[in-house]
Amino acid sequence: MNVKLVNQPLSAIEADLTLEFVTPQQLTSHPHASLLAQAGFKAETEQHCTLHEHRRMVCGISDTEPETVRVAAAHAIRTAKGYAYSSLKLLQYGTPNLVALIEGIVLGSYRFDGYRSDPQPSPLRDVYFSCESADGTMHEISVLEPIFEQALIIAKATNFVRDLVNQTPDDMTPQAMAVAAEVLSRTHDLECTILDVNGLAEEKMFAMMSVGRASAHPPRLIHLAYKPKNPKKVITLVGKGLTYDSGGLSLKPATSMVTMKMDKAGACAVMGMMKAISELKLDIEVHGFLGMVENMIGGNAYKPDDVLRAKNGKTIEVRNTDAEGRLVLADVLGYAQEKVKADYLFDYATLTGACMVALGPYTTGVMGHNDELKRSFVDAGSAAGEYCGILPFNRHLKKLIKSDVADVCNVSSKPYGGAITAALFLDHFIDDTMKDKWVHFDIAGSAYTESAWDVHAHGGTGAGVRMTLKWLLSH
Ligand code: BES
Ligand code: ZN
Ligand code: ZN
Repeated sequence: MNVKLVNQPLSAIEADLTLEFVTPQQLTSHPHASLLAQAGFKAETEQHCTLHEHRRMVCGISDTEPETVRVAAAHAIRTAKGYAYSSLKLLQYGTPNLVALIEGIVLGSYRFDGYRSDPQPSPLRDVYFSCESADGTMHEISVLEPIFEQALIIAKATNFVRDLVNQTPDDMTPQAMAVAAEVLSRTHDLECTILDVNGLAEEKMFAMMSVGRASAHPPRLIHLAYKPKNPKKVITLVGKGLTYDSGGLSLKPATSMVTMKMDKAGACAVMGMMKAISELKLDIEVHGFLGMVENMIGGNAYKPDDVLRAKNGKTIEVRNTDAEGRLVLADVLGYAQEKVKADYLFDYATLTGACMVALGPYTTGVMGHNDELKRSFVDAGSAAGEYCGILPFNRHLKKLIKSDVADVCNVSSKPYGGAITAALFLDHFIDDTMKDKWVHFDIAGSAYTESAWDVHAHGGTGAGVRMTLKWLLSH
């Protein structure tokens, strides 16, 4: 679908269908008020009515908040894609809502059909945003264009992440992710370095290697770097990239194993952020480190009772092979901090089911030592349309991952607070100088959905992308 900004009033744009948004207050003065009333249309959010004889799709919004507009646009575009129209046009509803509208349209129209033999694509090909405002005035295209382009880059990067997440474990193996990163680096201003198993061994990344040992698809470490001239700061992004998490020998129950292709969502999100960052030409240096591994079973699988030595020299007692993400991240965080001296370090991981228990399935868990930094992400999240909640550390929880045989244990001795104890495990692998510069995002719930909500269809959501780009653009 092509999305274009057109420097013309709405009436001058040729399109099959006009999409408009109305509040309940505006409904009475609508030119088709009686027809809409007959159809039972009350302009409630997520309610829409298409007057085909007038080629108008009227979409309800309870208020003009960006969140309302975004969700309404997503619902409307999903319905419009089911019609036989090939083009659609719409007005401006204030510049803050331009971003929400683009997100609603681009994210809301996403559907993953990669595995259907008869995908039946929608006839809707073109969406035109007029520079005319709903109040009849014309906006300057020079004002709207940068906002439009930026929002489009971010929304498209989110869909790029969804495409990666939605591919099956047999298609999106660690090596396939490495190829995807190399392809991205060729078309974008990015450097790409890949470590295979030999490279990981040379770097003493034995925790990550152990997790991947029983898989037919060997691990890869991907390093993407965006290095503009005279950057104002340096940022490192780390992503958990389990292309499949069977749980290993501490095997997951059959029902929990389904959807575990999404355990690579953190790495996919980082790849999408790198894509957007290079397209936005940000004046910051950004490094993305992706730990790609498959957690499987077999005669050579790593085991509960193993003690692993991570890259930073710390030893880890394994008591559950399903708590594998933190083992991979331990090494990738160690590698990332050794290679790049960054001003900030952010990691993204579908790390714990406990995060979903704590916050629900829509919210990203935000953890770290720096309260101000964490709060700045919650703000960026709500401005960007992502839910974030801070989960607080405390000294007592820290004791729950003490080990009797090694420096730290990969699971907690108590069943509560699992998202936080997982983050406190990661803390063992954060250098002292980086403690206050680090934020961990648990996207276990927010990265994937099996039922559509907000701007998300079934599958990967692209969690973390909009929030982080918003943060980068405002810091
Ligand atoms: N990948 C899972 C976490 C997860 C669960 C993500 C559900 C998305 C949906 C992770 O590797 C895992 O299995 N964590 C365990 C940790 C436990 C063994 C301490 C969990 O959450 O049960
Ligand atoms: Zn696991
Ligand atoms: Zn996992």
